Amino acid sequence: MENFVYHNPVKLVFGKGSIAQLANLIPPQARVLMTCGGGSIRKNGVYDQVKAALARHSVAEFGGIEPNPRYETLMRAVQLCREQPADFLLSVGGGSVLDGTKFIALAIGYSKGDPWEILSRRAPVAEAIPLGCVLTLPATGSEMNSFAVISRESTHEKLALENPLVYPRFSILDPETTFTLPDRQTANGVADAFAHVMEQYMTFPADAPLQDRQAEALLATLVQEGPKALRHPRDYAVRANLMWAATQALNGIIACGVPQDWTTHGIGHELTALYGLDHAQTLVALMPAVWKHQKAAKQAKLIQYGERIWGIRQGADLAGQAIDQTEKFFRSLGMKTRLSEYGIGADRFAEIADRFAGRGFRLGEHQSIGPREIVEILQLAL
Ligand code: NZQ
Ligand code: ZN
Repeated sequence: MENFVYHNPVKLVFGKGSIAQLANLIPPQARVLMTCGGGSIRKNGVYDQVKAALARHSVAEFGGIEPNPRYETLMRAVQLCREQPADFLLSVGGGSVLDGTKFIALAIGYSKGDPWEILSRRAPVAEAIPLGCVLTLPATGSEMNSFAVISRESTHEKLALENPLVYPRFSILDPETTFTLPDRQTANGVADAFAHVMEQYMTFPADAPLQDRQAEALLATLVQEGPKALRHPRDYAVRANLMWAATQALNGIIACGVPQDWTTHGIGHELTALYGLDHAQTLVALMPAVWKHQKAAKQAKLIQYGERIWGIRQGADLAGQAIDQTEKFFRSLGMKTRLSEYGIGADRFAEIADRFAGRGFRLGEHQSIGPREIVEILQLAL
């Protein structure tokens, strides 16, 4: 096991009715800016719960943060906050609203240049407005991490940032808020969390049996509960288990001391940027392709995963069986697993590879995936 430092300051408030606790979590004098998406929270009662809980607070609102939150939209919120200062940002919605809010929190005080530099040049930021969240979509893990992924419409870029200043001060996770998720978003959430676990697990054995089994516990839970949520969307226990699993899939705990491989996410962000696919749709199409391409390097973990999650112990090509079973699982969630099913062909694959070449770093746990391999992986995903 490699050396590591683990630090996570997020206070989680989990369970039915927990939105009512908001008033105790935000300082009473704070001028709050509540951020939200395209309107789901108005339809499912979450907005009313938040407003009731914050009846004694001063609350302004910024709505319209879209899925794959856009820099252009977020800069309007930054402008608003520069004109009417806020002391606390409250994100109410899914991962996109939360990621967008993290960017707003960092960008408000960034006066050295265009805040896009926080993403494009990893420009250091000295301070951020504190933020908290009411999460309505279990998927990204953003509620317990310091990452945000932001898209820029004008250049078709999608870039990630990491900054400890944007750990939420608190995250409220009420599984009842997820009863209204459309099937597509429920499936996306299960697949995204599944992929997060895999990016921290599907590498090579690293003498870390505890982290392996923690990861496998999350995978087994997602495999068991995910399809149930599609069949019984208002089953509290199922929604609660999915929400807790998705949070733990990307809060840093299973990454402690082990190698990681974020190839699927890295290439996936480019597919969203160029073709507008949902984040999880890209992952589901790419992950089996990455594994096929890296089958020799990932052989031992593929076999371990196949045996422990799917009971695969017999027959030829155990690793290949594990890959096929994974694709079947994604299909059972009603998801497409091939890029061609979205009408995507190979015509822009070289452009995608060039973007990585321009950034000058290689992907994979052995840094063995460069532009040529990226094209090969994309071809395997067709
Ligand atoms: O905008 P509204 O009207 O709220 O509707 C949303 C949106 O259309 C809807 N929705 C959310 N909660 C709902 C609901 N509809 C009904 N009932 C509810 N309870 O769902 C749609 C998708 O929402 P979005 O926030 O975009 O989904 P998700 O949470 O999957 O977030 C995806 C974004 O997170 C990034 C992705 O790249 C993508 O931009 N990621 C962030 C990460 C992080 N911060 O750590 C890691 C991930 O790998 C990922 O990259
Ligand atoms: Zn993801």
